Amino acid sequence: MTACAATGAWAFWGAPHNVEVVRVPMPLRDLPESLTGKTIVQISDLHVGAIVSRDYLRKCLELVSSFEPDIVVVTGDFVTYDGPARIDEAVALLADMQPGMLATVAITGNHDFGSSRGGFTNRQVADSLTEKLDGIGIRMLRNSAVEIEGLRLLGVDDFWGPTHELEETLASGDAEKPSVMLCHNPDFVDQPGWGNFRGWILSGHTHGGQVRLPFCKPPILPIRNHAYIAGKVELPGDRTLYVNRGLGYLQKVRLNVSPEITIFELSRAA
Ligand SMILES: [Fe+2]
Repeated sequence: MTACAATGAWAFWGAPHNVEVVRVPMPLRDLPESLTGKTIVQISDLHVGAIVSRDYLRKCLELVSSFEPDIVVVTGDFVTYDGPARIDEAVALLADMQPGMLATVAITGNHDFGSSRGGFTNRQVADSLTEKLDGIGIRMLRNSAVEIEGLRLLGVDDFWGPTHELEETLASGDAEKPSVMLCHNPDFVDQPGWGNFRGWILSGHTHGGQVRLPFCKPPILPIRNHAYIAGKVELPGDRTLYVNRGLGYLQKVRLNVSPEITIFELSRAA
């Protein structure tokens, strides 16, 4: 009984804020020499809103800043939307984060398209967030790409939202360059239309399931393909998926699934 109570207390009061920093080698074909050894730090699913502690998120972003990353990427769900003030709160929080030395880029998640009651389809919310984040130097990739010292970073709008354009995104920039795609919902990788894309795909959305018990499926899992709960997955077609477990949550509970900051270390693939 005591062990049960302790586990419950940890799940509700300790584990949701027990951030793990995960280092992942990221080999990329034809990576320019100047980017070898550089880092991409990924954060995801902040869910600024009524539930996630603002102090906790601030500490997470201070930790990101302390790594002095070359590139910072944010893979969506900035807010749990219940009104326009949430956007301003998220922007204010991120304005204090040290930007990446080379770039800070981001994409939309489903919660950045309004509330669940509205079916995550409110373009105005996503557009407002985009404008305000662009204003503080966080470049939003909305079905577009940007090239950073010979590395192509692409970003597609959320899979559940009304504005995702995978083919338009993949046609952006120089496809011959080493490529990293930001794609909030990992289920998107199973859709047709990826063509000859080769490279890494960085996702979030799942929160790693938030709670994992032995021999049980996570109770909170908003994806169809359960191969994509968390971590690295090699996909057909020379694509590598990485699913970050996120920082925030919709309900304040985690068990055996720490929130995550990922540090990718760039190298040239053999
Ligand atoms: Fe999320």
